Amino acid sequence: MSDPSLVPRYAVLGNPVAHSRSPFIHEAFAQQCGLPMRYERVLSPLDAFEATVRRFAAEGGRGANITMPFKFQVPALAARCSARAVLAGAANVLRFDADGWSADNTDGIGLVRDIQQGAGVALAGRRVLLLGAGGAGAGALGPLVQARPARVVVANRSFDKAKDLVARHAAWAGQHGVSLQAADLGLEGTFDIVVNATSSSVQGAGVPVPARLLAPGALALDMMYGAAALPFLRWAQAAGATARDGLGMLVEQAAEAFFIFRGVMPAAAPVLAALRAQLDAEVGRQVT
Ligand code: ATR
Repeated sequence: MSDPSLVPRYAVLGNPVAHSRSPFIHEAFAQQCGLPMRYERVLSPLDAFEATVRRFAAEGGRGANITMPFKFQVPALAARCSARAVLAGAANVLRFDADGWSADNTDGIGLVRDIQQGAGVALAGRRVLLLGAGGAGAGALGPLVQARPARVVVANRSFDKAKDLVARHAAWAGQHGVSLQAADLGLEGTFDIVVNATSSSVQGAGVPVPARLLAPGALALDMMYGAAALPFLRWAQAAGATARDGLGMLVEQAAEAFFIFRGVMPAAAPVLAALRAQLDAEVGRQVT
């Protein structure tokens, strides 16, 4: 494809967006799959998300990844919305089809694949604690339930938000034979897999629950990566758990988005290794 105007264009839209690793990840997938792709960062003004997406599509964009703080605005723009995006109430992928836009949410499936394939931990039959009922937690819950753990507890500082999120997923949990409950941060019990979807460490508040919630040999995963994940990773390691940051989830959600865009599923592992090396070189230290 020698004419650059024929190279399919994609972008990540957010605010801020300069930090986004999506161009690196998607260009690596494209190269791996032998597909042409141009992938950009588009900074959207906070009050002009819809206009920014429409301009990118009108200029020839084929699809976009949407990041914070716009994920909640995506479903309303789409003609079709996947079941997991409806459950999450948010989407991170838009494909600009000729007969209308399609929205999807790949965050949760990215998390599930990273747990099961990346960390090698099966979810079926396990006890899962999801910390946080904000946007990140909402995106994760549907696919977590779909992997059929025995039990999922959503614990949140504001109990009512956990309760609402659980209520929205009650029928889904019933269909998958999963016990799903809401809790506040004073919960009891032990869990095989603990996923941190709170932003408490970004705010310097540390991990909001005690380490006794971790079962022996538990997997503790923070959805963040880099410095933001360090307090949780240290907390988990000190308790003897296997600690994992959100870099694998980031690459896996992108792999699913790439599949939606191009119809080809790329291999996440080599791209995760390259991204990890890049990040380590930047911060000069290991984050997991
Ligand atoms: P995101 O899109 O990253 O999920 P969010 O929707 O603002 O961002 O949600 C942030 C999450 O982190 C929420 O679950 C929030 O709890 P509340 O719903 O009670 O606000 C949680 N969180 C933020 N700071 C926290 C802290 N210091 N301790 C415990 N939970 C915290």
